[in-house]
Amino acid sequence: MPPTPAPAPPPGTPDAEHAAELARTRAFFATRAADWDAKFPDDGPRFAAAIATLGLRPGDRVLDAGCGTGRALPLLRAAVGPEGRVIGADVTPEMLRVADARHHGTAALLTADCARLPLADASLDAVFAAGLISHLGDLDGALRELARVTRPGGALALFQPIGRAALAARHGRELTPEDRRAEPNLRPLLTATGWRLESCTDTDELYLARATRVNP
Ligand SMILES: C[S@@+](CC[C@H](N)C(=O)[O-])C[C@H]1O[C@@H](n2cnc3c(N)ncnc32)[C@H](O)[C@@H]1O
Repeated sequence: MPPTPAPAPPPGTPDAEHAAELARTRAFFATRAADWDAKFPDDGPRFAAAIATLGLRPGDRVLDAGCGTGRALPLLRAAVGPEGRVIGADVTPEMLRVADARHHGTAALLTADCARLPLADASLDAVFAAGLISHLGDLDGALRELARVTRPGGALALFQPIGRAALAARHGRELTPEDRRAEPNLRPLLTATGWRLESCTDTDELYLARATRVNP
């Protein structure tokens, strides 16, 4: 028998708002999956530079949170080698289908919400998240969950292959002081969710916040 779907959360609750946000995310990215990589053909070197800051070693276990079409997966695999573990998680099945078609066998792919991961506590050495955090309404919840699955001393890279100001301009928006990716806002958020911010770079070319999992 097929599994019984979970009951919908009661309307108006935080769980219902979260479910609605995930549905909007899936709808947005489903239509963009096929052309996603072709839209950004020059991002490779910036991905490589960001992944290098994770300090991955052969045999490490790494999650690509919000992996999309899997642009980072070959680089993560190269860093951890054949004995390492690479997991890609995303809520949009269409993005994962492209990832599987382009990078079959490179990583274990999970259809999962990064705020509710089917992974054991402290089971990862590092998390890479490219272009993810600006899509998360409940950033605290996601960072807390990523901390849960990362071992103490493990690394987190929150990355965009474009800086905050340039991305805002691309979308015809202005940056506001409340932007959660801004270092003064991100630092306390990371501290409250189990991380220590090590560095935050925000140029026209890229945004990269590097953090370390602290002892729970
Ligand atoms: C801007 S795309 C980036 C994709 C890929 N990391 C890249 O850089 O090419 C954001 C991705 O995050 C995924 N996403 C958004 N919210 C998510 C969540 N709560 N859990 C897992 N994935 C999520 C989307 O489905 C989408 O594939």
